[in-house]
Amino acid sequence: MKEEKPSIQNTVTDDIYYPSAEVVAQANVKDPETVRKEAANDIQAYWAKRAQELEWYKKWDTVLDESNKPFYQWFVGGKTNIVLNALDRHVKTWRRNKLALIWESEKGELRTMSYHALNREVCKFANVLKSMGISKGDRVTIYMPRIPETLIAMLATAKIGAVHSVVYGGFSVEALHGRIEDSESKVIITADGGNMNGKKIELKKIVDEALQRTGAPENVVVVKHLGIDVNMEAGRDYWYHELMALPLTRNGLRCETEVMDAEDPLFILYTSGTTGKPKAILHTHGGYQVGVYATLKDVFDLKEEDRWWCTADPGWITGHSYIVYAPLIAGATSFMYEGAPTFPYPDRWWTMIEKYGITVFYSTPTAVRGLMRFGEAWPNRHDLSSLRLLGSVGEPINPEAWRWFYKNIGKEKCPIMDTWWQTETGMFMMAPMPASPLKPGSATKPYPGIEADVVNEAGKSVAPGEEGFLVLKKPWPAMMRTIYKDPERYESTYWSKFPGMYFAGDSARKDKDGYFWIIGRVDDVIKVSGYRLGTAELESAFITHPAVAEAAVIGLPHELKGMAIHAYLILKANHEPNEALVEDLRKHIAHEMGPIAKPEKIEFVKSLPKTRSGKIMRRVLKARAQGMSEGDISTLEE
Ligand code: PRX
Repeated sequence: MKEEKPSIQNTVTDDIYYPSAEVVAQANVKDPETVRKEAANDIQAYWAKRAQELEWYKKWDTVLDESNKPFYQWFVGGKTNIVLNALDRHVKTWRRNKLALIWESEKGELRTMSYHALNREVCKFANVLKSMGISKGDRVTIYMPRIPETLIAMLATAKIGAVHSVVYGGFSVEALHGRIEDSESKVIITADGGNMNGKKIELKKIVDEALQRTGAPENVVVVKHLGIDVNMEAGRDYWYHELMALPLTRNGLRCETEVMDAEDPLFILYTSGTTGKPKAILHTHGGYQVGVYATLKDVFDLKEEDRWWCTADPGWITGHSYIVYAPLIAGATSFMYEGAPTFPYPDRWWTMIEKYGITVFYSTPTAVRGLMRFGEAWPNRHDLSSLRLLGSVGEPINPEAWRWFYKNIGKEKCPIMDTWWQTETGMFMMAPMPASPLKPGSATKPYPGIEADVVNEAGKSVAPGEEGFLVLKKPWPAMMRTIYKDPERYESTYWSKFPGMYFAGDSARKDKDGYFWIIGRVDDVIKVSGYRLGTAELESAFITHPAVAEAAVIGLPHELKGMAIHAYLILKANHEPNEALVEDLRKHIAHEMGPIAKPEKIEFVKSLPKTRSGKIMRRVLKARAQGMSEGDISTLEE
């Protein structure tokens, strides 16, 4: 192995790691290159074949309808429901007795659920939702800690044809309020609170505050998880366990799964974009189920006997696709953990890999860098020999972190699947498979059926090694269908920069072997510890503070978090810049947005670089902060 200077940068390396004969022998896909070629020859035939591995109430008439680009439709005419594939078909087989979920709380409590048990709870809760008047197409906001009821709530919503909008439990009052209001949810499902890093996060309290700012939804369902005192408003708020104990239907534990059109909405998920409010990315039942299932099965090579652990939160797309839906559709056993990786010690994750015999472990570069800091003695205290595959997502993984993960967690026998994808893509777009040769720091090549490229401003492919914009040139089944309530924004954000191509918002390089190297976002999205935050939403949170007149936020490289938030603030006339104010502003952002949005650095300034039309030139702020050339500033007004 080559010696390399430690670096956060995702520098291109020529080191290649080949899979062992043993890995190739047991891989679901033995020869990824051949499958890629076959799929490229006939994309529709490839996806139709994968769709046939699932159950449908009625088969589709058309695999892909391209008549109204970019509003592509998949498996048109097909009737299905993702829950038909995630639960119903398994409970008819021996898998009813297989564990669907193993869950450990931060305090160490263990709960397990077979497919039968999970299905029973989902049916019961689906009946609860129906009894509250929720039906097909209604929106349901889910704001939860990482507990089994989060999955139950999502699946129950999907089962009755309603649309879930999960808001990450780490978000706070203003972020939650905006998302409830925009989705016009009829009901909110939450918990009294959750455990995180030894602290109690009081979610119901945050819900109460958010609801004071918005037209209240009709009902709030509260899971008792911590057992803390909460305010329950009569006629609006109900305890989950009390509702679940009611005899709701004559069928009791049964609930028919709603027959959906393949193109009916399954969920919306808010994510940050370049301008304005977060946008609600809309995914549908039919294509999404095919995409997430096929990619999980091929890339993470899932086998019946595997124990799969994706460390994400169900509140992000990674959790939707690869904690909830894909593993269940694949009939896998998943592990989920409530709390922080370092609680009470930095070996918490390694302890649980050993304890539960995890075989496939999917995490993030930030987590790897964070745990790497504590040294290899922590993982070395544990027997991690059950592992056979590792994974990474959310941001570029720097080769140094990749190698540490490979050596100290995978013990040089577990290939690392670096998966590049987005909330919008729904499923992996770029990823190796276990039989692929790997280059540390590269998400390797597009998944079969995906056509990716790196282009210049004019939309032309750039030469190998040159930096450019990452685009996708063909539609795929799990792609977003639109931005909820805003189809124009869908078209203009993703399909107008390069006509006919999906613009991902990332810059990348393709090397001479066709391997892709993701560099980072080219828009105003900041990836903090892999979490996606928008400058516009952060800036509006800053100016709700009484001392702030104007705010500009940028992301700058950070050793652990990948990127960190730097805020430039202009204060109102009667406010003095001082340490106490900085602390107060940090608290304000944590309260409005959530702890992940806490700025790394706050600087008070007298003016901000703006264009003549008043747009903040964040590019200039970034260049100044990094001591670089400010580039073309001819439009600068400041
Ligand atoms: O910048 C890319 C980065 O995360 C963005 C998508 O963020 P989000 O919608 O929150 O989804 C994250 C989980 C799928 C991308 O535009 N990103 C994601 N995966 C990778 C990555 N950057 C580099 N390498 C990856 N493997």
